[in-house]
Formats: sequence, structure tokens, C-alpha cells
Amino acid sequence: MSQPKVKITEVGPRDGLQNEPGRLSVATKVSLVQQLQASGLTHIEVGSFVNPARVVQMADSDEVIRQLLRHDLSQQDIYSALVPNLKGYERAIDCGIKEIAVFASASEGFSQHNIQCSVDESIARFIPVMSRARQDGMRVRGYVSCVFGCPYEGLVTPEQVRYVTEKLLELGCYEISLGDTIGVGTQTQVAALLGHLQRYVSADKLAVHFHDTYGQALVNIAEALQLGIRSIDASVAGLGGCPYADGASGNVATEDLVYMLEGMGYATGIHLESLCQAGAFICKALGRANGSKVAQAMLS
Ligand code: HMG
Ligand code: MG
Repeated sequence: MSQPKVKITEVGPRDGLQNEPGRLSVATKVSLVQQLQASGLTHIEVGSFVNPARVVQMADSDEVIRQLLRHDLSQQDIYSALVPNLKGYERAIDCGIKEIAVFASASEGFSQHNIQCSVDESIARFIPVMSRARQDGMRVRGYVSCVFGCPYEGLVTPEQVRYVTEKLLELGCYEISLGDTIGVGTQTQVAALLGHLQRYVSADKLAVHFHDTYGQALVNIAEALQLGIRSIDASVAGLGGCPYADGASGNVATEDLVYMLEGMGYATGIHLESLCQAGAFICKALGRANGSKVAQAMLS
């Protein structure tokens, strides 16, 4: 019998590096992505076309993607990048990317701080982006941020999350990644949110994106798997955080996720040791500790 599969979206080069204080060269970012690919990852968010004055770490995403595609155009389908508006969309098209991700918040406070507009305004801003994407055959993924808690407003309800999830699906996103941006959710909240959403949206349209601030990410992922979710975001070496959510730590480490999934009998297609080496490479370049327990054990 073949093993069940899980889609892993590696977000380290974007969600991870956008919040690392260390500055990296384009060559180092390109090398990281190539090492991640070589380990077997098939969905990698490689950059962000937001206002470079706001997230300076992503200012060179255009060049990173150009170099990756110049090196091997056949790998085009692996890459995606974050886009907040039409200007970002033009940059994505110009450098040849085939998949973008748009992002809206479940809470008003985070929306205002992160993208300087209300939730409804952000959704309206995506209408022209989605219409261009349809014309160009661009795949679009959607993120909903702050699905359990907001750094400015506290608790977020499942109804708030459903509102934005349904809007993004109606606009044409093929999948919605549910982001615990500040990493505060617990297993009980995961069950409540997914139980609520799945009355309206099928599990194959949902992904989970857990930051590990309070050490709950793997438990929360195990609960999501139990509830039929098969698409999970992770960040190599547990890189990152969120520039507009003080104290938020990185996503669940991809190495830890792969170890858990393989142990549970899921096929990931990822060579764990190569992935650990990629994580060690980027931690050395950043001069930071490795946030993956599995990498710490395997590389010791
Ligand atoms: P704004 O300031 O309202 O934009 O920002 P604006 O239209 O007033 O323009 C201001 C300046 O930015 C102008 O330049 C624009 O040209 C420029 P100026 O005339 O002053 O020289 N500009 C751009 N330049 C390049 N590319 C662009 C672009 N857009 C405007 N795309 C905007 C609105 C949304 C752009 C801004 O607030 C922004 O970029 N925010 C980004 C915030 C961000 O990246 N946050 C982190 C990602 S979200 C996240 O991490 C959560 C997630 O992981 C899920 C989870 O964890 O839950 C996805
Ligand atoms: Mg995130």
C-alpha cells in the first residue's frame, strides 16, 4: 500500500528571512533555495514583492528569483512569492514567477499595522491582482493571518477567519493557508477552528501555517492532520518571525515537521540529512542558533 502524502510549503526564504536581522547576499539566498530544492522540497516561497522600505530583507527578491530561473528554468513551478498589490504583481510577472501568494488578516489591528488598510480594503486591493492572475495563468495561494490571536486585539474568532477565507477562495485562490502569525494557538483552538471552517470549506482547500512561539506548532499540526489537512507550511531551521508582530518566533522547523511526518507514516520525499545541512548553512550565514531540534540532534 502506498504511503499517504503531505504537501510541505517551505517558507524559510521568505517568512523566515524577512524577520532575520542579519543581511544576506543574493548569492547566499539563491544557494539556500537550491539546497532546499536538492533536499526534495517541491514548494518553496522564495521571496516577497512588498514595499522594500517596509521589509528591507526582501528588497532583492527580484534578483534572487531571476538568478534561480536563469540557473534552471525547468524548476519554475517550485517557486512562489508574496504579493500585496498590483505593483508587487508586476514585479512577480517581470521576473518570471508562476505562483504568488496574497495575504489578508483575520483581525483589523494586524491588517492596519501590516499593510496599512482594513481587512475589506485589502480584499478589494486583491481584485485587480486576481483578475490579472487569471489572464496570465498565474496560480494564487492565499494566507489568512492571525487566525487564533492578534498582537493588537487579542483573541480572534473562527467566524472572523471564515469571513476572510471564503473571500479569498471566492476571488480565486486555490488554497488558503491559515496563519497562526504570533504562534499562540493550542490544539483545542485548532480543533475548534478547523471544525468550524470545514462546515463551509473542504479540507483540500486548507493549509496550516504555525509559528512556534509557545512551542505548540507540532501538536497543532498533528491535530490538523487528524482533521484531514494535508498541506503544511514550515521554515528550515525554524527561521523567522513576523516584522509586524513583536515577539513572534519562526515557523515550525521543516526538519522537525519532516521527522514527525515520516514517523507517522506519511511520505514527504525529503532527504532529512540534506535538509539539515541546508538549515546549518543558513544559520551559519546568519550567525544564529538552529531552531530545529531534529537538526541539533542529527548534526551533533
Ligand atoms: P502603503 O505604504 O500603503 O503603499 O503600503 P502606497 O501605495 O502608499 O506606497 C508607498 C510606497 O511604497 C510608494 O513608493 C510605492 O511605490 C511603494 P514612493 O512613492 O513612496 O517611492 N510600493 C511598492 N514598492 C515595491 N513593491 C510594491 C510596492 N507597493 C507600494 N509591491 C503595502 C502598502 C501593502 C505595499 C505595504 O504596507 C507593504 O509592503 N507591507 C508589507 C508588509 C509585510 O511584508 N509583512 C510581512 C508579510 S505578512 C506575514 O508574514 C504573515 C504570513 O506569513 C502569514 C502568517 O504568518 O500568518 C503571510
Ligand atoms: Mg508567517
